[in-house]
Amino acid sequence: MSEQEEMRDRPIGVFDSGVGGLTVAREIMRQLPNERIVYFGDTARVPYGSKSPETIVKFSRQIVRFLQTQDVKAIVIACNSASSCAVGALEQEADLPIIDVVRPGAKTAVGATKNNKIGVIATEATIGSGIYSRYIKEQDPDAMVLSKACPLFVPLVEEGLWEDPVTDEIAGRYLTELIDVGIDTLILGCTHYPIIRSTIGRIMGEGVTLVNPAYETARELKRLLQEKGLESGHRPGLGTELYRFFVSDAADKFQKFANSILTYGILSAKVINIDEY
Ligand code: DGL
Repeated sequence: MSEQEEMRDRPIGVFDSGVGGLTVAREIMRQLPNERIVYFGDTARVPYGSKSPETIVKFSRQIVRFLQTQDVKAIVIACNSASSCAVGALEQEADLPIIDVVRPGAKTAVGATKNNKIGVIATEATIGSGIYSRYIKEQDPDAMVLSKACPLFVPLVEEGLWEDPVTDEIAGRYLTELIDVGIDTLILGCTHYPIIRSTIGRIMGEGVTLVNPAYETARELKRLLQEKGLESGHRPGLGTELYRFFVSDAADKFQKFANSILTYGILSAKVINIDEY
């Protein structure tokens, strides 16, 4: 096997602070069925969204070092908070392709809006970085961007309250000002949020397009792998584990959660000590 063929057969590394990144992994599985995935969820240290940029960069660096021990050929930062705060540092240090979820989400929203009023909901870290606004305005300087941090959404999702009056109540409070401004496009700027997409969609109303950056991120990954000649050309052989999952804590809870999000049942999640990396 040539070195290039060996590279093509390597897995994609995907990481998040916890379970949210599974919404991105799910889309990669759908659009790139030949690719193997090594997923890491930092379940011991979630949430990232309320932490400082320095801490998020430190955690992200450790995860990239761990994923490199798994011989990944590319990395997808399946967390908006880590994408917002750490993508620059990670791109500088790692000698492999890195994809974040923010750029693809901003691009999709600019293409979708008709009235140039775009809303962004995300964690405090992502909103604080101002990164969505920056990317959107780079592509369309006339766009009006209204950003709103929704810190309670992540714990509501993690607690499994996906269809619950409490989630309806909180979402109603967070989203009112976006409705009042008349946005027609809303970026789900946190990988946990697509899990409560139906609640968000119901409150925003039919006239508002919800953008889940996962779809465009998987397309971007495909484009990049093709460009670099790294796309796997065949389904991995029998006996090869297609998807592997690692977490920093509470593997059982993660596994149960993952099985409710992924159509493909996960066999097991292994706990590792991420502080060693
Ligand atoms: N999934 C993470 C994101 O996309 C948010 C969860 C967290 O705060 O750790 O930002």
